[in-house]
Parts: sequence; structure tokens; C-alpha cells
Amino acid sequence: MKEIKSFVRRNSRLTDSHKKHLSQSDGMLYTQIPFTLLQQQRFVGLEIGFGMGDSLLDVAAKNPDQLWVGIEVYEVGVASVIRQAKEKGLENIIVLTGDVMDFLEREQAHQLFDHIRIFFPDPWPKKRHHKRRLVQGKSLDVLASIMKPSAVLHFATDHLPYAEDVELVLSNSQYFKPLAVVPFRPETKFARKAKEAGVVITDIAVERI
Ligand SMILES: C[S@@+](CC[C@H](N)C(=O)[O-])C[C@H]1O[C@@H](n2cnc3c(N)ncnc32)[C@H](O)[C@@H]1O
Repeated sequence: MKEIKSFVRRNSRLTDSHKKHLSQSDGMLYTQIPFTLLQQQRFVGLEIGFGMGDSLLDVAAKNPDQLWVGIEVYEVGVASVIRQAKEKGLENIIVLTGDVMDFLEREQAHQLFDHIRIFFPDPWPKKRHHKRRLVQGKSLDVLASIMKPSAVLHFATDHLPYAEDVELVLSNSQYFKPLAVVPFRPETKFARKAKEAGVVITDIAVERI
């Protein structure tokens, strides 16, 4: 999983303000998953590829009794979440910068999470690029291993063929069953733009068996 990347590093320059928030994260930014801390929590959520972090900030603000972990390769987004979490006084967010698979393929990550959200991952539409997709057979096995029994996986995409492929893999998986009610997903800028352009957004939610 580690050799083929699901992202292309964006050539984004960090401003002094971004650098400040990354270096003064008030304990929010971790270089490794703090397994012991997470194992002590009643409920731990994970958002993978949170972009600028709107949905991560939203879920953390609405659920102060839950701990939310966000993993994102895009440092500008990580800095933005740290800044906004500080401004809003949110103390239930942990962020990690890097490739999610580098953090999760560990024995200690087994059955760690109660809820996983992956919203609008890059669709990699060309067939020869499908192996780069964040959500596909192999990564779903890793996700299954880090979910607690009955944990929820919520995936959303504006790319119908991606949704169809994920639905197929999930329906053939021994680890998941469909969830009757799709959990709430806030309308972020990304989702709003897709909707305005008339693109269909598909939400898929499954439960870990
Ligand atoms: C199209 S953006 C969507 C961002 C956000 N979820 C939203 O709805 O606005 C996909 C994000 O996933 C991140 N990403 C892709 N592969 C990743 C990986 N392996 N680990 C962590 N983040 C990843 C990218 O950096 C990018 O910010």
C-alpha cells in the first residue's frame, strides 16, 4: 500500500502564519498516532483526507465528548484546522500530517476507531490510476482492521464510477454490512460546488461486522 500513493503532493507554500500554527499546535499535532491516549477514549473518530478541515471541525464541535483524529498530507489544511480549533476552543481534535497508510498499518491500530469518514477522496478516474485510489480492496482491509465491531465507515464522492466500484467491493467484503441510515455529512465548499455544478454526490455508509 505504501509504494503507490493516493495523492500528488501539492506545491503549496506555507505562509509564516501556517508555520506558526504548525509549530504552536497546542498539543494537537502528532507525528505518530498516540495509541495509548486513543485506547483510553470511549469514542474515537477518524477523518481521512480532511482537506481544509471544515467537516472535521464541524463534527468535533458538535460532539465534545468524542475525540476526532484527522489525517491529511496537505500541510496548509493541517495548519488551518489547528488555527480554527484553537479559535473555537476545541480540545477534542488530534491531527497528523502524512500518508494515512503510513500511520494505520500497525498492529496497535487494530480496532481503534468507532467511526471513519472519507469525504471526496481524489477519484483517479483513469483506469490505470485506480490503484491509487484511497478507497479500494486493499485499503478497505486495512480500514476494517482498525475499526471496532459495529464501527461506521462513511464515504462520499462526486464521481459515480468511484462510488459504484466502492459499493461493489464493500458488498463483496466479509467485513462490512450496509448501514440503513447514512450519517450526517456537512455541506463543505467542495460539496457545494459539486452540487451547484449539478454533479450527483453519493454517500455510502457501512457497519463493521
Ligand atoms: C479532493 S480532497 C477532499 C478534501 C475534503 N475531504 C473535502 O471534502 O473538501 C482529497 C484530500 O485527500 C488528501 N489525501 C489523499 N490521499 C491521502 C492519504 N493517503 N493520506 C492522507 N490524506 C490524503 C489530499 O491531500 C486532499 O486534501
